[in-house]
Amino acid sequence: MALSMLGVFLGLLLEVSTHGPSSVPRTLWRHEDVSLLEFSEPGVFNYSTLLLNEERGALYVGARDAIFQLDINDVSIKNNQVLWKVPTRDVTLCTLKGKSEEADCKNYIQVLQVLDEEHLYVCGTHAFQPLCDYLSLKDFTLRGKQDDGRGKCSFDPTQSFTTVMVDGELYSGTAYNFLGSEPIISRFSRPQSLLRTEYSTSWLNEPRFVFADVIREGSNSLDGDDDKVYYFFTEVSVEYEFFGKLLIPRIARVCKGDLGGQRTLQKKWTSFLKAKLVCSMPELNFVFNVVHDVFIVKTSDWRETVIYGIFTSQWGNMGLSAICAYNMTSVDEVFSKGKYMQKATVEQSHTKWVQYNGITPSPRPGACINNQNRQQNITNSLLLPDKTLQFVKDHPLMADPVLPIGHGPRLTAKDVNYTQIVVERVTALDNNVYDVLFTATDKGFLHKSVVFEGGSHIIEEIQLLENPQPIKTLLLSTKKDRFLYAGSDSRVVQSPTAFCDKYMTCADCVLARDPYCAWETHAASCINIFQKQDSRPHRKYIQNLRGDADDCPSARPRSMDRPQQVEVKPGSSVELACSVRSNLAQVFWKVNDSILKESPHFLLMADSALLIYSVTPQNQGRYECWILEFAAGKNFTRMLASYVLRLKRPEVLPVSSVEIIDVLNPDPSTSRTTTTTAPRGNNDNGNPAGPSPLTPSTLSSVPPPPLTRPATTANVHGTKSDTKHYIPPQSSDSQNQGPEIKDPRAEYLQNDNSKALLFLFLLFFLLFLCGLAYNCYMQYLPGPCLRLRNAMLGSQKKPQREYATCEAGLMDVLPEKRDRNEPPHQNGTLRDTGYETEPECGNGKILSNGYEENRDNVSKQGPYDVNCESQPIEYADADAS
Ligand SMILES: *[C@@H]1O[C@H](CO)[C@@H](O)[C@H](O)[C@H]1NC(C)=O
Ligand SMILES: *[C@@H]1O[C@H](CO)[C@@H](O)[C@H](O)[C@H]1NC(C)=O
Ligand SMILES: *[C@@H]1O[C@H](CO)[C@@H](O)[C@H](O)[C@H]1NC(C)=O
Ligand SMILES: *[C@@H]1O[C@H](CO)[C@@H](O)[C@H](O)[C@H]1NC(C)=O
Ligand SMILES: *[C@@H]1O[C@H](CO)[C@@H](O)[C@H](O)[C@H]1NC(C)=O
Ligand SMILES: *[C@@H]1O[C@H](CO)[C@@H](O)[C@H](O)[C@H]1NC(C)=O
Repeated sequence: MALSMLGVFLGLLLEVSTHGPSSVPRTLWRHEDVSLLEFSEPGVFNYSTLLLNEERGALYVGARDAIFQLDINDVSIKNNQVLWKVPTRDVTLCTLKGKSEEADCKNYIQVLQVLDEEHLYVCGTHAFQPLCDYLSLKDFTLRGKQDDGRGKCSFDPTQSFTTVMVDGELYSGTAYNFLGSEPIISRFSRPQSLLRTEYSTSWLNEPRFVFADVIREGSNSLDGDDDKVYYFFTEVSVEYEFFGKLLIPRIARVCKGDLGGQRTLQKKWTSFLKAKLVCSMPELNFVFNVVHDVFIVKTSDWRETVIYGIFTSQWGNMGLSAICAYNMTSVDEVFSKGKYMQKATVEQSHTKWVQYNGITPSPRPGACINNQNRQQNITNSLLLPDKTLQFVKDHPLMADPVLPIGHGPRLTAKDVNYTQIVVERVTALDNNVYDVLFTATDKGFLHKSVVFEGGSHIIEEIQLLENPQPIKTLLLSTKKDRFLYAGSDSRVVQSPTAFCDKYMTCADCVLARDPYCAWETHAASCINIFQKQDSRPHRKYIQNLRGDADDCPSARPRSMDRPQQVEVKPGSSVELACSVRSNLAQVFWKVNDSILKESPHFLLMADSALLIYSVTPQNQGRYECWILEFAAGKNFTRMLASYVLRLKRPEVLPVSSVEIIDVLNPDPSTSRTTTTTAPRGNNDNGNPAGPSPLTPSTLSSVPPPPLTRPATTANVHGTKSDTKHYIPPQSSDSQNQGPEIKDPRAEYLQNDNSKALLFLFLLFFLLFLCGLAYNCYMQYLPGPCLRLRNAMLGSQKKPQREYATCEAGLMDVLPEKRDRNEPPHQNGTLRDTGYETEPECGNGKILSNGYEENRDNVSKQGPYDVNCESQPIEYADADAS
């Protein structure tokens, strides 16, 4: 039954991955498009702990064996550093316990918290012997007053942990022992007292901690309730029956004023309660059951607080990430009013969790001390009755789950694993408040999204790290200059929170739907509204977060009427560039004001360029690249580029720059020439938004190569091309391939990828033909080919054994043997391509099974290779011609 359930589940996964809703980032900024500030120190890795101190203008970075202080406005400036290495004696101890000296027995800084005005509290794994110390900010040195780091920091650098400092007390979630098998949620106060979780699977069952933070409920609480610290983690379910381990995302909480119990739960939390976090798509019955990171958007009234979490599915190799949001009011309702789960032992000593429906003791188990308790003379948790404490010890799990706002994800994204999230709540020009989500991925990218009433929109994707690697920490500064700071194994990266100035047109600026960006009509530029220098009233800003670009000035720029002139000669191919920045746009081309229909003549390239093959006089006309983008219930169309294509009258037979085509197409009048009148890469001139109605001149006007005028051709390319021209097409055979590549016009060709690919394809096709002929001759090919060969050559040469050898898929051993035993053949040119022998000889018959055996046999059986090798290759050419 379990298996059929799995089947249903996997079917669902497939369903969701193909039909589920998911968003695509509208714009992609590659690493080279944006200039980001970076920090890394030679020989230092694992920049995985970051701490912002905006008052001091400092970003503290905990790495492996080192702590740095960077400038908050420019992380490439290092203001201070302190090394904290493990003494040799401790490294030796660590290696004796079987840990790797290079990877494990280092000091990975995991805790970096502000203790007071003058000190940071720092903890590191310290070669599997966690230690904490005080870092003086005055002189940036470690005090050397080392505390035991157990329970504050994990032993194993790869294990999960989370910490938060609340009023000088360190709350952490980590492992308490060397093996990492004893999970703990704990609080350390200055006079070394420790409050911790019970060591029991009903409290914590193989948790992976992701986040912890405090919610200040106490400050304006009418009933005298306490501040609470919330923990987020994924653990192995105890309440569901499942084959294997079913993971469950959890939210847990403890009260800040908890002192533990007097007899029961001594030095343990009396307020530890946990509940299931639900992130699912009910309409598809799909569950995201692993939480990776959480961010809490705090507000002045704690009830308005919103919790954002990143989730994937446990069966996560399908690459679907979801972001769910939770209302603090509903979280509090589950913990303060919900029912508890109870462990029930059923037959065969099998435990099951069911909802507890009996009477709950008073005061309510797991609740913080409030005014009502105080009236009963229960002023702290030490005075709680044993009945309450025993109950909470046995019932830490709530029955009701915490449901997401809107009963589903705020956003789902396909083919991406989110690792970190930060959220900024901003007020846009429409005076509405929007939550802007910044999510980092395991491939070094950042997504910026905005949550709307009816859904969400991924504004852009920024490549923070050049090489794909996970982003381990993400922080946001919300002071005047807003920046994001990302920590990874190799470096720290600082990124702006918006890239408004990269949108070159009003339509692009508005369609981006970025609450940070607005079009300033006076300066005609897209600006960041949170950085605008002056707010003079006569300035007009256009922003519409539904993406309605109707307010944009519709004035069609005059320059648009001057399209780029493109002259080509008949029969050649031409590529018209069009740079589209939006992934949400549809591209279409217009010719003479009517929409271009697909045909073998016209090819829309992946980069939206239009490739026209062998231009005929009918192809002349006006070509325009348009995009259509749907937003706010409307279609917005814009022209991005326009060209006028004209033919140059062919006076003399054109000298083709692609002579290779002559080989297959001996009639020179129909031979194709490739010209590149509209080179691509028009973004390189510093206009990343591409050509736009306002700046059509961004198309670089590289003059067409002088292929159309034979006189010029002779001048530029020298006499060689002229002589070439008189070579009869029939004589261009494979031997001419080499020199042709060195032809300067061929080099020009290689500047253009598609042309070069065509060229390569034809070259390989030719080689393939030669190889086919050769193999046919060599009898490597069975069936009809052999019959043909026999017909042509007679059957006097019949090396039957050789054929058998080759068919068994042994040929790729043979060239090696040849090299060792025999001098290379005089006619090695064809073989050197390595093309004809290896794939053809196998002829699809190479099977991985038994291949190794055969290989061994061949090395023993000498005679075969002599047969295979000794065939003169001259016949190959004869066959090909
Ligand atoms: C530390 O960084 C190195 C180098 O990038 C990486 O291979 C290793 O997995 C990292 N270790 C941890 C615990 O993150
Ligand atoms: C997401 O992570 C899973 C598990 O680590 C991996 O198998 C998958 O390939 C990743 N997907 C993407 C799109 O990176
Ligand atoms: C949270 O839920 C409460 C009660 O259900 C509701 O009044 C409040 O508006 C919600 N807040 C948010 C931010 O959704
Ligand atoms: C609480 O303690 C005070 C003084 O110790 C005592 O007078 C009062 O009766 C107690 N109240 C209750 C409800 O036990
Ligand atoms: C465009 O119009 C010109 C002149 O009106 C015509 O010669 C040409 O064939 C047209 N081009 C196409 C592709 O229809
Ligand atoms: C927008 O354009 C698309 C594609 O051309 C079309 O299917 C759709 O009906 C149009 N929508 C509106 C509102 O014009």
